[in-house]
Amino acid sequence: MYSDKVMDHFTHPRNVGEIENASGVGTVGNAKCGDIMRIYLDIDENQIIRDVKFKTFGCGAAIATSSMATELIKGKSIYEALEITNKTVMEALDGLPPVKIHCSLLAEEAIHAALWDYAKKNNITIEGLKEPKSDIHDGEKDE
Ligand code: FES
Repeated sequence: MYSDKVMDHFTHPRNVGEIENASGVGTVGNAKCGDIMRIYLDIDENQIIRDVKFKTFGCGAAIATSSMATELIKGKSIYEALEITNKTVMEALDGLPPVKIHCSLLAEEAIHAALWDYAKKNNITIEGLKEPKSDIHDGEKDE
């Protein structure tokens, strides 16, 4: 069963949409279920995430975790955002059913992908950020 928070973020997702001329955009998918998530970041000159929007073509758990993830990183520095894991997002949602845990990985990876894009565009290195995968489903990477 889903928690009230998951249901709330699924039925009223926060920060849905896109940002024009975003500082960084990250898209990740899961080839197994076919779900895709895209995150847009607007980052100011002090490396603070001024705004964040997302679009998720995916299951309810993916939508709820994207929504919560955007809430968690808004107003934070890029390094604070980097520390947000799928576990943090799940805890903030009061948990997910075990079969849905993989869905929360989309949010974590999409944030990393957007930060990677931002770093590339600005020619900087974000300490601790590894090159993100575009497909989170291990072993089914489609190149
Ligand atoms: Fe694909 Fe949830 S089933 S992200």
